[in-house]
Amino acid sequence: MSETQASDTGRVAAILARYPRRDPGDLVNILHDLQAALRYLPESALQETASYLGLSPAHVYGVTTFYHGFHTEPRGEHTCTVCMGTACHVRGAPRLLEQLERDTGVTAGGTTPDLSLTVEEVSCVGACALGPLVLIDDEYHGHMTGERLSRLVDELLKKEEPT
Ligand code: FES
Repeated sequence: MSETQASDTGRVAAILARYPRRDPGDLVNILHDLQAALRYLPESALQETASYLGLSPAHVYGVTTFYHGFHTEPRGEHTCTVCMGTACHVRGAPRLLEQLERDTGVTAGGTTPDLSLTVEEVSCVGACALGPLVLIDDEYHGHMTGERLSRLVDELLKKEEPT
């Protein structure tokens, strides 16, 4: 077992221990807590959760696929999301996404191999007047240009480099 896996196992156990009633009704809350701690839901964590709550693994997997916000693949330390809704689309969002994919070598939905950045697209986050809009983690960056996007992504990737 790798050091990361061992620490993940410890974190999973600590999160499960917050739910001593082992109530299957707590499943979604547990999954949220696990994802907040691990950034995604590894298979081992899902299996452990299923066994802790006395549920079948298939049921737990089913819940992760039903809710859009759960991720079962590793995620980056940061997320860069390009809004591809109509208002952003007509103001150049496709070019921004292409540039982002080129700069990071990752297509939308993917994560850089060093797990520093996940690239995503979304359809309208309700801030159309700011289009084209890019979110870095949960922060809105409106009226985005290719140049600013490159700078933002450079900064994120630099932050992740070992010192
Ligand atoms: S289309 Fe991008 S925020 Fe609405």
